[in-house]
Amino acid sequence: MPTLVIIGAQWGDEAKGKLVDVLGAEADLVVRYSGGNNAGHTVITGGQEFKFHLIPAGILHPDTTAIVGSGMVVCPKGLLEELDRTRSQKSELGTLLISSAAHVVFPYHRMLDSLEEEARGANRIGTTSRGIGPAYQDKVARIGIRMGEFVDPEVFPTRLADIIQVKNRMLAMFGKEPLDFQALLTEYQAYAERLRPFVVDTDPVVQDAVYGGKRVLFEGAQGTFLDLDSGTYPYVTSSHPTAGGATIGTGIGPRMIDSVLGVCKAYTTRVGSGPFPTELLDDVGEWIRQHGKEYGTTTGRGRRCGWLDLVMLRQSCRLNSLSGLVVTRLDILSGFETVKVCTGYQLDGKTIDYVPANTFEFERVEPVYTEMPGWSGDLRVCRKPEDLPSEARSYLKFMEEFTQTPATILSVGPDRAETMVVRPDLIWG
Ligand code: GDP
Ligand code: IMO
Ligand code: MG
Repeated sequence: MPTLVIIGAQWGDEAKGKLVDVLGAEADLVVRYSGGNNAGHTVITGGQEFKFHLIPAGILHPDTTAIVGSGMVVCPKGLLEELDRTRSQKSELGTLLISSAAHVVFPYHRMLDSLEEEARGANRIGTTSRGIGPAYQDKVARIGIRMGEFVDPEVFPTRLADIIQVKNRMLAMFGKEPLDFQALLTEYQAYAERLRPFVVDTDPVVQDAVYGGKRVLFEGAQGTFLDLDSGTYPYVTSSHPTAGGATIGTGIGPRMIDSVLGVCKAYTTRVGSGPFPTELLDDVGEWIRQHGKEYGTTTGRGRRCGWLDLVMLRQSCRLNSLSGLVVTRLDILSGFETVKVCTGYQLDGKTIDYVPANTFEFERVEPVYTEMPGWSGDLRVCRKPEDLPSEARSYLKFMEEFTQTPATILSVGPDRAETMVVRPDLIWG
């Protein structure tokens, strides 16, 4: 049965793509379960860089089946562009399947995403403008169009004709011109034509694999604190990036998950608005951004950077019932005389050791830091934990003890080769 869920343990961009590629080599199926092309997952191998937004990063392994799961929202145009680009980069790819229950993202979702953001003014979320929130709104309102309906030539025109009326009324409320039904239909019918061969009921495929003893890897997108329920609401995405999402958006139940690995950076980053207690709005934050090339894979926006927040990370370990941590970007933190980790918060004169659910309280917390000796040198050459400077090893030990979660894999650079597996026994459960 071995099954493994890989999730982002912070606010996204922890290097899930790299890990899915590394461990995907051992998987029969790689299944993405949430989000859409708000995600940007980078894989660097053999000097080539691949960027995935919708297609599971596991597709690079020719013997793997890569599934776009039912919990996802899919931009057909984006998916086709991504498929063409990936095929032009590599001829031998795995098999791609798209769930007929995944929802379709249309141009009106993208337009409404931007218009709603504009209307929020100073309270804007800082979304990726990919129409993700509006597409999930339609899903919850039970008016969305699913992939199975989209690729059915009989059904799609009537479904679109119905929904376009509603959407044009919404666009008019924002003072925008209505969308032309016929033009939209013609454009999207062409995408549907190309995508039809990939669309199937993926739940039985995943079930057969899991119950048939195959290795199945569930690829998370975004990060724990962007989760609609567990994140820093309202500064979150509209889906469930936490490990629980893997049992909603794929077709299996919680007893079928053997292991969950949480990917985290050795520091913290966040893209978009919302509280970030350990954010460094000084030269140190700027240094991490420049040195770590902390710019978004999807939007190119500069990522906000700060010290590692262990209070958040411990909460993440519990929220996702993590089997182990995957600590990335230890190389970027090299060069500081001392480094800080947040081990508590001050809130209205009291010390607390948890992340308050009320975001407006979380906005007021002041981090309490523990300062530790830093390290120097090029960590990208390290191939086993003993190669790391002793200060970096002490830092990792402190992380493990505070979170009560073992560091299972370490990453010291973007390439597949720059990875150290410390606890192979924890990977597939
Ligand atoms: P994802 O969204 O979690 O898949 O992460 P992204 O791909 O958006 O961002 C992670 C970035 O860090 C990518 O550019 C990776 O190539 C890069 N990366 C991954 N692991 C490491 C590492 O250990 N060190 C460094 N310096 N870069 C890394
Ligand atoms: P990966 O999978 C980092 C953030 C956006 C914004 C908020 C809501 O690459 O880690 P949305 O467009 O989802 O409605 O935006 O969520 N966000 C991400 N930040 N990495 C991501 O994905 C993200 N996907 C969404 O910046 O703050
Ligand atoms: Mg990313």
